Amino acid sequence: MTALLTVDDLRVRFPTRTGVIEAVRGVSFTLGRERLGIVGESGSGKSQTGRAIMGLTPSHAEVTGTLSFGGIDLLSAPPKIRRDLRGKRIAMILQDPKYSLNPVMSIGRQIVETLRRHEKIGRAEARERALDMLAAVQIRDPARVFDLYPHEVSGGMGQRAMIAMMLVAGPELLIADEPTSALDVTVQLEVLSILDKLVADRGMGLIFVSHDLRLVSSFCDRVLVMYAGRIVEEIAASDLGNAKHPYTQGLLNCMPVIGADRHPLPVLDRKPEWAL
Ligand SMILES: Nc1ncnc2c1ncn2[C@@H]1O[C@H](COP(=O)(O)OP(=O)(O)OP(=O)(O)O)[C@@H](O)[C@H]1O
Ligand SMILES: [Mg+2]
Repeated sequence: MTALLTVDDLRVRFPTRTGVIEAVRGVSFTLGRERLGIVGESGSGKSQTGRAIMGLTPSHAEVTGTLSFGGIDLLSAPPKIRRDLRGKRIAMILQDPKYSLNPVMSIGRQIVETLRRHEKIGRAEARERALDMLAAVQIRDPARVFDLYPHEVSGGMGQRAMIAMMLVAGPELLIADEPTSALDVTVQLEVLSILDKLVADRGMGLIFVSHDLRLVSSFCDRVLVMYAGRIVEEIAASDLGNAKHPYTQGLLNCMPVIGADRHPLPVLDRKPEWAL
C-alpha cells in the first residue's frame, strides 16, 4: 500500500488562561486509498486531528509533528500551497453543515465557485459539473436545487449538497467528520452509501470520524480508537471483536443488541491511567 498520508506524532495544543489544553497528544498513522475510521468519545481529539490535516486548526493553537501528504510536508508548506491543496486535493466534510454552506449564496453557485477556484473552466462547463455532482449525491432534481439557498433545503439535502461541494474538485483525500450525525437513520445510510460509492469509484482515501463504533466498523476497513488525544487501539474493522484495549471493549459492550434484555444497561468504564 502506497501511503497517501503519513501522520507522525501529531500534537495540537490550545493555550488558555488556565493552562494548556492538549487536544491531540502524539497521534501517528498512515493512510492509503482506503477507508479509515476514527472513533472515540466526545473531546477525544477526533475533529482536531482531522482539522490539523486539513489545515483548519484555530490560529492560536500550536500544531507539531509531521503531516506528509503526497510527498508534501504540510506543516512546513507555505500558506499558498496549503490553500491550493485545501478543497482541491484534500477535502473535509465538517461536523455541522450549517457552518459550511454560505447562507446567502445559492447551492449551485457555491459548488460552481469551489470548482472555479481550483480549475480553469468556463461557467457553462462548471454548471454542468455541479449539476452532475448534485445528481451523484442523489439529489433528485438537481436543476431546481441548484438555485435554492441553504435555508430552503432539508437537513439531509443540505448535507448532500455539502458533500457535492467537497467532492466536485475530485479530492484524493476526504475527511468526513460525523457526516451523518445530524441525519435520521434512513438518510444516514443513503449518505453513507453515496460516500462509499464515490470513494470506490474515484479511488480516494477516506478518514471517517464518528463516535458510532457500529457505523464505523460496518463502513471502514480499519479503525483507530482515540481516547484523551491518543490512539489507544488500531484494529481491522473485521477484527473488532478481538479488541484488546479495555476502552474499545467497553464501547463494544455498550452497543445495543437487538432482542437482548439488558438490565441494568452497561456503563462505560474509564480509568485515569488510559489518559496518561
Ligand atoms: N478552540 C479551542 N480552544 C480550546 N480547546 C479546544 C478548542 N477546540 C477544541 N478544543 C479541545 O480539544 C479537545 C478535542 O476536541 P475535538 O473537537 O477534537 O473532540 P472530538 O473528539 O471531535 O469530540 P466530538 O465527538 O464531541 O466532536 C477537547 O478537549 C476540546 O475542548
Ligand atoms: Mg468532533
